Amino acid sequence: MPSPSSIRLLIAEDVPQVSQHVRNLLSAQSQVKLLEVLSDGAKVLEAARQLRPDVVMVDLLLQGKIKGPQLIEKIRDSGQDIPVVVLTVPQHPLARDPERGIDAVLTLPFSGFELVNTFNHVLADRQARASGSCRVVAVFSPKGGVGKTTIAFNLAVALAQFGLTTALIDGSLQYGDLRALLKVPSDVPSILDLPTDRVQESDMRDVMWRDPAGVDILLAPPRVEMAEMISARDVEKTMSLLRRLYQAIVIDTPASLSEVTLAFLDASDVVLSIVTYDSTTIHNTIAVSEVFASIGYGPDKVHYLVNRADSSGGLGRDELARALGRKPDFEVVSDGRLVVQANNEGMPFVVASPDAAVSLDVKRVAAVISGRTAGAAVRH
Ligand SMILES: Nc1ncnc2c1ncn2[C@@H]1O[C@H](COP(=O)(O)OP(=O)(O)OP(=O)(O)O)[C@@H](O)[C@H]1O
Ligand SMILES: [Mg+2]
Repeated sequence: MPSPSSIRLLIAEDVPQVSQHVRNLLSAQSQVKLLEVLSDGAKVLEAARQLRPDVVMVDLLLQGKIKGPQLIEKIRDSGQDIPVVVLTVPQHPLARDPERGIDAVLTLPFSGFELVNTFNHVLADRQARASGSCRVVAVFSPKGGVGKTTIAFNLAVALAQFGLTTALIDGSLQYGDLRALLKVPSDVPSILDLPTDRVQESDMRDVMWRDPAGVDILLAPPRVEMAEMISARDVEKTMSLLRRLYQAIVIDTPASLSEVTLAFLDASDVVLSIVTYDSTTIHNTIAVSEVFASIGYGPDKVHYLVNRADSSGGLGRDELARALGRKPDFEVVSDGRLVVQANNEGMPFVVASPDAAVSLDVKRVAAVISGRTAGAAVRH
């Protein structure tokens, strides 16, 4: 199983001696996982789409229908946002030029240390650029009880552990699951306590609940009927302010697609749609995916996370992928004992038991969302 920090590499190289050299260098370490070596430049984009590498290495002198420089340009223009490390020889010197899609250059011969270092630099650079802007993730499912609140809470804590200032919003305004989960007293302020006209930074600081796990939480109103007092416009305003204050925001949402829920989803970069191996959940998820498509949420925005991925109840991974129309992006295993106990104590399991499989799975999701690794987090 790759660790959250392992780097997935795809190589475009048509000189067997060079690819063998790189393979030898990589075999001596465990940080970089070589996905595939392609000698045909024309196949690289499709392979990248399927394999979701964190980095692509391209030989500048790649021959064939699509030559090295052309492939570099194509990767840059593909919108896949994958950093490219260009490999060259001393006779063909090349300068790093991120604008042209050249994130780093490696000149043969190089050591395994230089190779791995280059990948680490390129990814750190991406992460630094990504952290300048806020990532907003809404955890959603059209079905209740699939693990939205549990995943939203642990994902937020995992993002905070990566060093991002993180807010968690209870968008489940009627029932306010987070207040119960974290045992927050009912007199602690909520989204309702924000002024409706001009919300400001200082107002925000007054209403956020600082959880010991390192995330700031914007709670839902303490009583069911108070949810009605929050409008879609309030959500929009609150979200645009929070975006300026935090590097990552996770929103726990209810199962109903109300106007207010949609305002939360609209304000998000990623809608993490939680699926389980349960036929009604899958049915509702497909129904909602049609709504999402019709309002312009594409696959870059809607990501599928299979919760309790090891409790398939007879359904296969392939069947699920067929039903959804694509492979889920993430999987989180089941761990009844740990999850229920941690939830009962109001503790994130990613902190209570950081090495448990369920925690590593959530941390993998956080790694992708924070831009640490660009790949999907499903172990194929
Ligand atoms: N990966 C998991 N392994 C084991 N138990 C889990 C897992 N994920 C969630 N659970 C359990 O499933 C139950 C429902 O989880 P949770 O409350 O997070 O779901 P929800 O989607 O937020 O529900 P609701 O629709 O009521 O808001 C909880 O008891 C939780 O402990
Ligand atoms: Mg919930």
